[in-house]
Amino acid sequence: MSTSETRGSLGRFPTTRLRRNRQYEWLRDMVAETSVSPHDLVWPLFVHDKAENEPIVAMPGVDRLPIEGVVKAAADAKSLGISAIALFPVIPSQQKTVDGEHALDPENLICRTIQAVRAETGNDVGIICDVALDPYTTHGHDGLLKNGCIVNDETVAVLQQQAVVLAQAGCHIVAPSDMMDGRVRAIRAALDENQKEEIGILSYAAKYASAFYGPFRDALGSHAALGTAKSLGVADKKTYQMDSANTDEALREVAFDLDEGADLVMVKPAMSCLDIIYRVKQTFGVPTLAYQVSGEYAMIQAATANGWLDGDRAAVEAVLAIKRSGADAILTYFAPKIARQC
Ligand code: PBG
Repeated sequence: MSTSETRGSLGRFPTTRLRRNRQYEWLRDMVAETSVSPHDLVWPLFVHDKAENEPIVAMPGVDRLPIEGVVKAAADAKSLGISAIALFPVIPSQQKTVDGEHALDPENLICRTIQAVRAETGNDVGIICDVALDPYTTHGHDGLLKNGCIVNDETVAVLQQQAVVLAQAGCHIVAPSDMMDGRVRAIRAALDENQKEEIGILSYAAKYASAFYGPFRDALGSHAALGTAKSLGVADKKTYQMDSANTDEALREVAFDLDEGADLVMVKPAMSCLDIIYRVKQTFGVPTLAYQVSGEYAMIQAATANGWLDGDRAAVEAVLAIKRSGADAILTYFAPKIARQC
């Protein structure tokens, strides 16, 4: 018998069998390299100025909530151990303007929501708020639109004020999601000048111009708004959000934002950017969040509704993969579902 035949006969000699550790659930759990805990989760919520819940068609299972509904969700987050909520306001079109000034009104929907949540959950659940103008602009862009261009520096000046308004309303962390250059430094300076040194900045540092934000834009009504921007020659966000082809550029974005004072950085979307999450975490070793965005959620929900996927398992697997790639925390619409399972 030749040597290769002898080696091919499993069982005759001691051999490494990786399947041994996969035999029982307790053993698989014991040797699991990664896990997701409710503390790793941030729950994004949509708030509107209406009395009733309103389902978001492209995000089955997610509703636009009245302020009271958000307060209740924050209380649920606390009891489930979810670390934080991320709030997104749905602004009626009559309150949207070309320059989105309503973002700066200290009595606007998001500010009233922050106050109501703070009154309920205090500092027990983090309140994270986007800094960007898209909920408030008629054209749906994150910045000011001048002569067919999203102007950088003028937008940054408005975002500084928006961040201060949000901080004064009581949010814990502001999250610039606009992708203007230099905004983190400017926002940090504005917060500090207004005695808001304790307010953290989570920068959407590597945010790609992604097709996976579609359902979110429907939820906010900014999709239709972006459609109107088409006539102005700027129907997409590719002049400020990143090109999906790039990875080195993501590291430069993160490096700049950290240098400018970001406390936490985010990669977005998550599942199509696992390599980016990995590189960011490996390179910088800073608190790194990832956003499993609306389109990622919608895909799983749609396939589940058709009976094509086991939705519970798919949701957990996707979030685990994001964690495994290096994310310290994950923004996910599945947060309560996953928190209940883990
Ligand atoms: C707005 C913003 C977007 C998302 C979070 N903040 C959409 C966009 O940039 O157009 C997307 C989140 C999601 O799709 O779940 N600046």
